[in-house]
Amino acid sequence: MNIYDANLVATIFQHYGFEKSTNIHESEFIILQTCSVRKHAEDRIRNKLVHYTALKKKKPDLKIILSGCLAQHKAIELAKEFQEIDLIVGTGEYLKIKNFLENRCNKKINIELDDKIDYSDLYSEQFYSDSNAYIPIMRGCNNFCSYCIVPYLRGRERSRKPQDIINEINKLNPNKFKEITLLGQNVNSYMYGNIDFPELLRLIDENTDFKRIRFLTSHPKDISIRLIEQIAKLNSLCEHIHLPVQSGSNKILKLMNRNYTRESYIEKIRLAKEIIDKVSLSTDIIVGFPGEDEDDFKETLELLDIVGFEDAFMYKYSKREGTAAALIEETLTEEEKVKRLNKLIKYQLGISNKVLHNRIGDIMEVLIEGRSKKNENEFLGRSRENIMVVFPSNNKLKMYDICNVKITGVSGKTLRGELI
Ligand code: 5AD
Ligand code: SF4
Repeated sequence: MNIYDANLVATIFQHYGFEKSTNIHESEFIILQTCSVRKHAEDRIRNKLVHYTALKKKKPDLKIILSGCLAQHKAIELAKEFQEIDLIVGTGEYLKIKNFLENRCNKKINIELDDKIDYSDLYSEQFYSDSNAYIPIMRGCNNFCSYCIVPYLRGRERSRKPQDIINEINKLNPNKFKEITLLGQNVNSYMYGNIDFPELLRLIDENTDFKRIRFLTSHPKDISIRLIEQIAKLNSLCEHIHLPVQSGSNKILKLMNRNYTRESYIEKIRLAKEIIDKVSLSTDIIVGFPGEDEDDFKETLELLDIVGFEDAFMYKYSKREGTAAALIEETLTEEEKVKRLNKLIKYQLGISNKVLHNRIGDIMEVLIEGRSKKNENEFLGRSRENIMVVFPSNNKLKMYDICNVKITGVSGKTLRGELI
């Protein structure tokens, strides 16, 4: 979502004749699109601000804009700490950049959140450098998972009009974009009139020409059999589900306010595997949530074994002020959290490797995204299942072509194959 929002901001600048700069020393503006989900993202922005505000001291004409989630969350604190910042705009106030560029801005801090804003009127130019375009289908979140800051910063759920979504997809250049990722904090609760998410997918499949459609992110409590069946049925939908489980322990899931159990999660995975041929699965996990003991952690490791995720994004718990979990006392030290995280990452790598071996012999449709870092003569591509595949290149193929590859082996989390 932040990548998409950065595009919205870039689009506003483009309307005023600005171009993306490749040399920061020649730039008139530095815009930081910020994230507040974990502390690590916040620390990185602070480091960048130290650097850029120092640059501004040498070059006073330079303008610094702080935009997005963290800008909204810590506006007053950051404005005080870094007085060189010229403008702060939260997730609901990107349009204030127009006023600023027209010298009509009277406020430095703009962090109000209009729960209705979805920026559908502001068609975003897609400046992405690769072949995947992001299209938000909704904004905001109503779930209030206890660790998460997002509902406070992005407001309540609102779904975009299906026709606006379809129009935005149809405006994309099909020679450049081969994949569309539909975005929402919880796509399963998309609802516009009587159109729900499975129906929206059908409409997109029927009214657009893109052959690879993905979506992020599903919430396990809301993913329905109808959605799973729709993935199996619609040719444009990629056979991959990202379903963040966060923890394998019912005790921790309850503390996280996730509203599902380990058992119901495993059942939904069973259904997905039964209904979608060769579906691939990925997840997000948080380790070291307050109160997580050794047994809870063990249950998370066991769940990884039971499901057999192709991939997982793993984080250590990071306290976010203003969330419900911030009021629960932490029970683990930073070192203990790091130790658990490292163990988890290693464990999951073993599982990914094992699960990927089941793909040997399969023929996969791969979108070429680059060249292998280790060997210039090999392409690196992404399968419909969202698995990276390396295979020997040939002169007839180029970047962003789609080809069929027969899988011959596995190396770490990557498949190896040959063109057929
Ligand atoms: N600490 C650690 N990880 C978090 N996430 C969200 N909030 C936190 C937090 N406070 C992770 C979740 C979510 C992903 C986008 O970020 O795993 O699914
Ligand atoms: Fe955060 Fe939970 Fe909403 Fe995802 S579903 S954005 S983790 S509150």
